[in-house]
Amino acid sequence: MSRVARAPGRVNLIGDHTDYTGGLVFPMAIDRATTIVFDAETATPMRDGSADDLRGVTLTSDNFDGVVSFTLPVNSPEKVTPSWGRYVAGVAAAMAERGMTPRGFSGRVSTDVPIGGGLSSSAALEVAAALAFGIDADSSTIAAVCRRAEHLATSVPCGIMDQLTSVAGVRDHALLIDCHTLDVTPIRLPDSLAVWVVEISTRTLDGSEYPARVAQCAAAEREIGPLRSADDAAVDRINDPLVRSRARHVVGENQRVRDFAAALSAGDAREAGRLMYASHFSLSRDFETSTKKMDDAVDAYSRVPGVHGVRMTGGGFGGCIVVLADDDAELSAPLCAEFGGIRVRAADGASLSSIA
Ligand code: GLA
Repeated sequence: MSRVARAPGRVNLIGDHTDYTGGLVFPMAIDRATTIVFDAETATPMRDGSADDLRGVTLTSDNFDGVVSFTLPVNSPEKVTPSWGRYVAGVAAAMAERGMTPRGFSGRVSTDVPIGGGLSSSAALEVAAALAFGIDADSSTIAAVCRRAEHLATSVPCGIMDQLTSVAGVRDHALLIDCHTLDVTPIRLPDSLAVWVVEISTRTLDGSEYPARVAQCAAAEREIGPLRSADDAAVDRINDPLVRSRARHVVGENQRVRDFAAALSAGDAREAGRLMYASHFSLSRDFETSTKKMDDAVDAYSRVPGVHGVRMTGGGFGGCIVVLADDDAELSAPLCAEFGGIRVRAADGASLSSIA
């Protein structure tokens, strides 16, 4: 009997470049997902009665060419070809590091998460792969394994937001996540509001300045301690002006996440929108992860009637912007000649099911 592992992408409403310092984020899983339809390997009994431990993965993709094929245990996930298989191999390696035994499988992967668009297509693939490998653990452990997989497969020292959102998503809710404690608090999105994502450019964080930002935040923490509990006065004491700017973003962004969650819970879309613009401005000016094209798109969408807030979302350096608007706002029509846009809805996290 074939099985289906399904894991959604995510959009972050506010709280970017805070997760890797144990800060606050406010993402939601979206109604676009990566699916692996697979047959799990069953151990072949050997003549002496033991199980054959020659296990492996064979995977094709509806979205990419080539066949990913490797045996388990996998030693160098970062060298697997075609390169999309590195995320899958990374999960197997990360499970093994924790003493888990990934079960081999053969299958086919497909996705309707825009790839390289900043909606966590790689996290969705990792989480779906973890389920196909038969991982049996709680949400935060699955997310931690998948985060480690990304580190093993690429040069991106990402935080845990994307993977945890893909695992723990709740339909109609965004998730207030404390990336230090890994507490996840679902907060219902008002029916009167809609979330849109607009893909500005495809890109990969591999080879971007993302690791440099992680290093600059670490430098700030060496000077003033954990950014998640720092205040503006501590930030002002940082010597290096660049490191000070990076820290200013993180400390301000954590507060904006708290305020945004409160505004949304109170149904105050106007205040939520104001915080989104402030977040974008901070990411653009202090954290320097936006691009001119993203800034222009934020500006253009901010003028559309019914729009409350717009900001870049995710790692930046390209990717998507996210728009918070009234449910009935006409978003795609006025700007579709220049930018596309899709409406997304908050969805449940990853799941495993059987098909006959
Ligand atoms: C990427 C990373 C996340 C997070 C965001 C920025 O999506 O994978 O861990 O750091 O960038 O908020």
